[in-house]
Amino acid sequence: MVVEELLQELDGRLRECCDCQAKVQATCQLLEQSSHCCELPGRLQQVSAQGYARHLVYRHPDDHYCVVAMVWGPGQGTAIHDHDNTWCVEGCVAGQLAITSYELVGQQQELLELKPERTVEVGVGSVGCLIPPFEHHRIFNPFEREAITLHVYGKELKQCTRLLETDRPNLYRAERVQLGYCTMP
Ligand SMILES: [Fe+2]
Repeated sequence: MVVEELLQELDGRLRECCDCQAKVQATCQLLEQSSHCCELPGRLQQVSAQGYARHLVYRHPDDHYCVVAMVWGPGQGTAIHDHDNTWCVEGCVAGQLAITSYELVGQQQELLELKPERTVEVGVGSVGCLIPPFEHHRIFNPFEREAITLHVYGKELKQCTRLLETDRPNLYRAERVQLGYCTMP
């Protein structure tokens, strides 16, 4: 399946959904069916030496949803981050990754307290989702080959909050960051 077909199918399915739960479920089902046979053009497979690469695949003209491809070289990954209060569905289309999800359990002064929930190793065909308020995770590629993921968000994710470790266990300092793209259509 080429990306254009996937986008057309996604648009059709999301049009039929009226709430966030239904959109997440429909997107999960589609990525589960298609991520093992998804053919990505060369642009969406480009790695970046600076860190994991974000490539814009499609943004809905009215910002109803947005699709981004990410390429993870060996050793590349994110900090713990949120998703700016929107839902996301992530499917692995090449390689393998380790994903740790976190639960926000409290706040101490300006520091956020997060508890690691679980770490899963994912491969081609694996699909995961986050729905606020459970929306913190960290994605990392500890393997020797590149991995590629497709991410569908409930809006264009232009910024998010990154959580940085402190010298106190499970307490993190929040930092707002702008998100850009390595390539756009
Ligand atoms: Fe994420």
